[in-house]
Amino acid sequence: MLLQIEELTKEYRTGTRANDGISLAIGEGEVFGLLGHNGAGKTTLVNQVVGLLRPTSGSIRIDGRDMVADPGLARRLCSFQAQAQVPIDGLTPRQAIDLLGQLRGGARADVQRRRERLIEALDLGEWLDVDAARLSGGVKRLVAFAMAAVVPGRVVMLDEPTNDVDPVRRRLLWRQVRTLADHGAAVLLVTHNVIEAERSVDRLAILDEGRVIAEGTPAELKGRLGAALRLELVLDPDAVELPASPFGLSAVPVGNRLMIGVPMDAAGQAVAWAESLKHTGSIEEFTLGPATLEDVYVALVGGSDAGPAHVEEVIDANAA
Ligand SMILES: Nc1ncnc2c1ncn2[C@@H]1O[C@H](COP(=O)(O)OP(=O)(O)OP(=O)(O)O)[C@@H](O)[C@H]1O
Ligand SMILES: [Mg+2]
Repeated sequence: MLLQIEELTKEYRTGTRANDGISLAIGEGEVFGLLGHNGAGKTTLVNQVVGLLRPTSGSIRIDGRDMVADPGLARRLCSFQAQAQVPIDGLTPRQAIDLLGQLRGGARADVQRRRERLIEALDLGEWLDVDAARLSGGVKRLVAFAMAAVVPGRVVMLDEPTNDVDPVRRRLLWRQVRTLADHGAAVLLVTHNVIEAERSVDRLAILDEGRVIAEGTPAELKGRLGAALRLELVLDPDAVELPASPFGLSAVPVGNRLMIGVPMDAAGQAVAWAESLKHTGSIEEFTLGPATLEDVYVALVGGSDAGPAHVEEVIDANAA
């Protein structure tokens, strides 16, 4: 594997153990998703791989070489899109992307050709020569992606590249992420967009409180859920008790909803049960659909403190 992380632990001076024995391996040509609630430790992991933060213990290797011992090499071998917006005010996207490409050692003509291709692929042409101070948040994010992609490293680390980006350009962005992998990079991408990750990553890991609590392909993780279908109940605000699932599978409360795993052959039974709950007034609404990666995510981490508000957002976005 091109990028190999073993038993990585980072404890900040404040005592927070943000990464706690994380092991991951990502191959050439692979798009790997990193999911997890706010504060799970994703950015901490990314910053160690790109040589910006020194691990407390554990190892990071690229092509077998020790990145902890040589963070300068890590910075050369990785290209990186930070979670925070890069301050490029005073530069235009054209200037910022070309500058980054040349800093990363690209030849001027190559950099310009690649910049043109990225600008076209991400549909950013109208902003090419606008001062970054006047760009919207989403456009800035896309420019930051182009800065990371213009002369990509062997490893490409993207920390929430789809944030603030409109749905149409998010698709364009995911396609470019895939293109990076097709050209041989190992891509690690942090995202809160579980639905899009399901379609776009080869494998993923879910982080929770600094630990990997699940890892695999989207299909493998969904298999672990043990339910092909998901029944979503919108609870009546006045209902005092959560309805008990008759299916013996996961039942996870998320805000005012209850997500229930349902086996494929129990679809009819699930609808009849939900209809009866609606009839008695304990739920307002229900939907039955195929289980998604989001259900796995919610089943695994939906219960933690930081969780419900965010997960609900994702669910609402999905429903829209
Ligand atoms: N410089 C720091 N000093 C002390 N604690 C920190 C520092 N940076 C992050 N932390 C803490 O480490 C934990 C992990 O933070 P991190 O930024 O890695 O999370 P994250 O998964 O990227 O979250 P988000 O989804 O909100 O970006 C949090 O508890 C955070 O408060
Ligand atoms: Mg983060």
